[in-house]
Amino acid sequence: MHEHDVIVVGAGGAGLRAAIAAQEAGADVAIVSKLHPVRSHTGAAEGGINAALRDADSWQDHAYDTMKGSDYLGDAPAVEALCQESPEEVIQLEHWGMPFSREEDGRVSQRPFGGLSFPRTTYAGAETGHQMLHTMYEQVVKRGVTVYDEWHVMDLAVTDEDDPADRTCHGVVAYDIQSGEVSGFRADNGVILATGGMGQVFDHTTNAVANTGDGVAMAYRAGVPMEDMEFIQFHPTTLPSTGVLISEGVRGEGGILYNSEGERFMFEHGYANNDGELASRDVVSRAELTEVNEGRGIEDEYVHLDMRHLGEERILDRLENILHLAEDFEGADGLTEPMPVKPGQHYAMGGIETNEHGETAIDGLYAAGECACASVHGANRLGGNALPELIVFGKRAGRHAAGEDMGEATVTTGKDGEWEAADYEFEIEVGETGGKGPAAADGGAVASDAESVLGATVERAKDRVDELLARKGRNHAEIRSKVQETMTANVNVFREEGRLEETLGDLREAREAYKDVAVSDPSRTFNTDLIHTMETRNILDIAEALTMGALARKEFRGAHWRKEHQERKDENWLKHTLVSWNDGEPELWYKPTILEGENKTYEPKSRSY
Ligand code: FUM
Repeated sequence: MHEHDVIVVGAGGAGLRAAIAAQEAGADVAIVSKLHPVRSHTGAAEGGINAALRDADSWQDHAYDTMKGSDYLGDAPAVEALCQESPEEVIQLEHWGMPFSREEDGRVSQRPFGGLSFPRTTYAGAETGHQMLHTMYEQVVKRGVTVYDEWHVMDLAVTDEDDPADRTCHGVVAYDIQSGEVSGFRADNGVILATGGMGQVFDHTTNAVANTGDGVAMAYRAGVPMEDMEFIQFHPTTLPSTGVLISEGVRGEGGILYNSEGERFMFEHGYANNDGELASRDVVSRAELTEVNEGRGIEDEYVHLDMRHLGEERILDRLENILHLAEDFEGADGLTEPMPVKPGQHYAMGGIETNEHGETAIDGLYAAGECACASVHGANRLGGNALPELIVFGKRAGRHAAGEDMGEATVTTGKDGEWEAADYEFEIEVGETGGKGPAAADGGAVASDAESVLGATVERAKDRVDELLARKGRNHAEIRSKVQETMTANVNVFREEGRLEETLGDLREAREAYKDVAVSDPSRTFNTDLIHTMETRNILDIAEALTMGALARKEFRGAHWRKEHQERKDENWLKHTLVSWNDGEPELWYKPTILEGENKTYEPKSRSY
């Protein structure tokens, strides 16, 4: 058994920032991560960090852009916290030595990004996340924060009161990938989930293979609601054969999108008459797919992104990494030819419901970064708003978990505030598949004091590993592929009712199949089959909640386009969808969006770019 004041799960941008903040606030902190910190997916973030740094800019303008980008589904207190605090976080990174790209006069450079009314995206070439990750990892090492890397967290150690609001999280249980040992990690103050994205729910994604939504699924099974899961961002410029990201920075620097007719379709077909390629991502992704669907795609699949006119000097100065990615993963030379691009899953706007301090509905459990939903991005995230989210909310969660008094939160969690039950009958049965299979619920432990809860959770995790290694059954890979295929085919940029229902049916079958899952490699050391099998269970839980939200939300808002519902319906849908796990069944419910900010109310307007 290991014991610390604060346990941070995940070592990407949010996890590292949370650990630094908790350590600064006096806590004994440890990070537990299935990857070495600098292998975390934050390292793949390219474009930049939005921060209102210049005199001509303001956090209020940043907040306005973010709310508009969110299609008015962001919660204003969280949005305003993001925009107020991102400048000081960028300056902090700069003081820690992050090598930002700079102007001749030494100021940190900023470039335009989609949906921004001011060029406020700071960057380090096209490898901003990589530089940020290394900068913060240096701070973690310098401060002596304990890092348990290559430990896969399997479960939260949470008490089992009937009402999740009465439960407490006392730590986590993790599997040491190197030795096969299962161990408890007791957190005297709090556990912070910072496990990143869930892109592996889809088969064409910019996300790393490790992004399986582990934290979201663990929190869900423990009784924490998942919020706004239906809102998935499909980034407009990913390489067709691999999903590798080609940064929005290319369009920010002036890159142009063309269809097979050589038309600059964002303008010529009227998708975004003002901002063109720099409309928000949901708009550009729909435009590209419309071009392909109407026969103006290249090879019926993609469009072209051209940056040749920017010139070699500028490309090498600001976008060099893009040249390498396009060449290495698609064989395209961005200096001499346009790059093929198409939309790919990139980011989850929804996740573990938190307030603006990172607290969840369960005492002692926090979440920050992409796995969390505070909610700052609502129905569509603006490019360049993910990295500031990691550091602003990572810092907030770290401080709060370490015991700093941060005042009363405005955003409520669980059923503490106003809420309403969803009146929706799913045609397909959802949730537990009968029998106590591994994909079934097992959120709470069996006792209420920390030691017994951790002990019981460790024993249960050991039993699960033994069972997976001992029994005969099917391999998880075929189940995972089926989930990814159905999600990519049917829960993508364009969604329609029948196909969403079909997906729920496919997921039901996948859950049934998962009851017989087994691991063929019996080894206890570096058993990636075992780890992937456990991750696939997380993917199943997330895919189901996501599809439920997509079916229930009968409107078109931000990234959620519905064939049968072609308009935003503010009178009914200015509300968040929540899915809670209750005794083996997902329960769908809603809570209102908070549009009242510090000094203003964000009135929903029609959204055009
Ligand atoms: O396009 C990009 O560089 C991605 C940035 C982001 O998702 O914020």
